[in-house]
Amino acid sequence: MIDREIKPRRRILKIYDSYAPIYDAIGQGAFAEGLTAHILGSLAEPPRRALDLACGTGAAALTLATAGVQVVGVDCSSAMLRIARARARDRGLSVRWVSADIRSLSRRSATHDALRPASFDLITCLYDSLNYLSAAHDLATVCAGAARLLRPGGRFVFDLNTIYEFEHWDDTDQVVFDSPNLLVYNQLSYDAEHRIARGRIVWFVREIDRWWRGEEIHHERAWDDNEVVAALEAAGLQVTARRTPTWEPAPAEAHRVVYEATCVAAIT
Ligand SMILES: C[S@@+](CC[C@H](N)C(=O)[O-])C[C@H]1O[C@@H](n2cnc3c(N)ncnc32)[C@H](O)[C@@H]1O
Repeated sequence: MIDREIKPRRRILKIYDSYAPIYDAIGQGAFAEGLTAHILGSLAEPPRRALDLACGTGAAALTLATAGVQVVGVDCSSAMLRIARARARDRGLSVRWVSADIRSLSRRSATHDALRPASFDLITCLYDSLNYLSAAHDLATVCAGAARLLRPGGRFVFDLNTIYEFEHWDDTDQVVFDSPNLLVYNQLSYDAEHRIARGRIVWFVREIDRWWRGEEIHHERAWDDNEVVAALEAAGLQVTARRTPTWEPAPAEAHRVVYEATCVAAIT
């Protein structure tokens, strides 16, 4: 039996709200857990402090905390953070969770004790979370905030779905999870002119003898490599690697690119 909390609300209110327990139940955190292991494995020494942006239900943050790193997780979804908190508590891990929009990092660093400037060795933002930024200036805003929080030499690691990936979103229903009590499907489409992708996620949860239906519509913006590099460089961050999620060099036609950038200039 699936936890009662999964029972969806009738109306589509906002994203990562009623979908939060589904996200967790179908194991979507596995991507960030695997990628975080690669990130940790690539570092000469483990980071002392790390910040996970758009931390969701805590996949990367909890992996880092398990490795002994002091972690702060930021997300704007209270439903996702609620699950992250419970997972940390269940594992006896101490993580500082901050409910905030990642576009407000520069502003918040002036007042929030967990977000002190130049205090992080590593900042992550995983599982295409930066594709969720919708306005043209948003990526530069987040990069500037990240640069402000990183110590010089610190790393910002994030992955993005590429334009090449979105060009394969072809308006068909894809069943992404199918079990006796839970069915989840995703209908993907892409508006190439505006470079906006759309995922309509629909799920059905069985509760004894009836099914509950839930739905959220997610939009993702396609960033091209030049925009990513420009946003990073304007913030004082330099791209040091482009990889696949399995930590190989990214090919020219990659579906997803993991960017690693280093903080070369302290931003005040
Ligand atoms: C695909 S999930 C990834 C979650 C987590 N990083 C992981 O890998 O499991 C995207 C997350 O980004 C968060 N998010 C999207 N836009 C955000 C914003 N502007 N500020 C903070 N969080 C945001 C959502 O609430 C959601 O938890």
